[in-house]
Amino acid sequence: NKRVKIKSLLAQSPIGDTVTVMGWIRTKRGNKNVNFIALNDGSTILNYQIVADPNAIQEDVLKACTTGACIKVKGKVVESQGSGQSSEIVADSIEVLGSADPEKYPLQPKKHSLEFLREIAHLRMRTSTFSAVFRVRHALSFAVHKYFNDKGFFYINTPIITASDAEGAGETFKVTTLDLGNPPKNENGEVDFKKDFFEREANLTVSGQLEGELAALALSEIYTFGPTFRAENSNTTRHLAEFWMIEPEMAFYDAEDNADLAEDFLKYLIGYVLENCEQDLEFLERRLLDEEKSKPADQRSEMALRDKLRFVADSNFERVTYTEAINILRNSKPNKKKKFQFVIEDWGADLQSEHERYLVEKHFKKPVILSDYPKEIKSFYMRENEDGKTVAAMDILFPGIGEIVGGSQREERLDVLTAKMEEMNIPQEEMWWFLDTRRFGSTPHSGFGLGFERMVQFVTGMGNIRDVIAFPRTPGNAEF
Ligand code: 4AD
Ligand code: MG
Repeated sequence: NKRVKIKSLLAQSPIGDTVTVMGWIRTKRGNKNVNFIALNDGSTILNYQIVADPNAIQEDVLKACTTGACIKVKGKVVESQGSGQSSEIVADSIEVLGSADPEKYPLQPKKHSLEFLREIAHLRMRTSTFSAVFRVRHALSFAVHKYFNDKGFFYINTPIITASDAEGAGETFKVTTLDLGNPPKNENGEVDFKKDFFEREANLTVSGQLEGELAALALSEIYTFGPTFRAENSNTTRHLAEFWMIEPEMAFYDAEDNADLAEDFLKYLIGYVLENCEQDLEFLERRLLDEEKSKPADQRSEMALRDKLRFVADSNFERVTYTEAINILRNSKPNKKKKFQFVIEDWGADLQSEHERYLVEKHFKKPVILSDYPKEIKSFYMRENEDGKTVAAMDILFPGIGEIVGGSQREERLDVLTAKMEEMNIPQEEMWWFLDTRRFGSTPHSGFGLGFERMVQFVTGMGNIRDVIAFPRTPGNAEF
């Protein structure tokens, strides 16, 4: 008969039915009279108990039922004798679909460190922690589409291969088919990219924003949700070379509308996961509490994971300008114990992550929307404010994460935009298509980018961004 998933077995407990389940063995225990197998098929964090009577199941099959083996079980659903779960299966037959040599299988039933599991990313999804993370990640991406679809936004797929560097940070991965050992050269002795596949230099996108703007100035409200690539050599717990970004872009929105949307969106995502991922969150919360126990008392977090999520979902994000934030930081007392010093002497300096953390975690103790940054430290496309010194940028800072969203109102005035590009040495000829939107039917518009993995980190409480994406790309890491 047809396979039943463990999630629906647990939900329905069809006592008396004969069913088939398939999955991977987490543990087997028992004696010569009876065996208990904890089976997991990934549909839920919970394992399902299989009772195997050596009188009913051949000895060699039972012997092959080791941790990690994949089996097919046919049997009768009965009320569970033990505690915890309402039903279990008494096996009529077990078929070993794939054995797992206990001498070699790396995921034995004991606690493995996240560092060790990172080395075996091809298997780590079989652990409770990682399966929970990836189910939550799935729920979050579904919620992203649901949120925007319900609001009438259109999902746009922007190119992954492009010639532009939206953020202008020069951190792009090049895309070429040229033989770099012996490239074709032009008369000046330079590499002749005219001979390359795209007949020009190309790179992987760092952001879908510029193309998103083109779409917003036609469809009014759009969003992108795709992979973005940055060759920044930052080995931190918050940076990936390949990460996913959600970038809504809206015509007729000003900076305030933009911040309102971002705040509402983030709270919706948190609420969605709280409502739909209860068991996984409960597991992840317990995992964090265990982790906390090994820390010194003064470094433990005060709130359990779900309490923290509810707190953020119910809070009003603090809205402050860069200038106000600088004043707060200047007046803050350096933390003597940790020799922690704020060196913000000059207005105009970019905030470091410890400044952001201070604002969010120590000063306001809730998410902060920081706006109106000095124009010199922000991208060319951001709208210049009346003061001539700042731009209508916003960053959203989250507790434990730091920057989770970056966005702005865009510069819609052709003359201001071209003057800015000149100042920043951005060649206008190459951006003719972008400038066309300001030539023809320009209008105020705004947008932002949410770093998807940072959001998954926030809701799952995972400390390292490498643990919320299946196959992390970081400096030195591009295997499977
Ligand atoms: O602040 P960023 O660079 O903004 C943009 O790319 C804009 N074009 C977005 C827009 O307005 N449409 O990146 C946006 C967010 C950051 O706030 C952060 O959450 C995430 O993307 N991010 C990264 N996440 C993981 N690894 C990296 N290397 C990241 N760089 C940025
Ligand atoms: Mg940013």
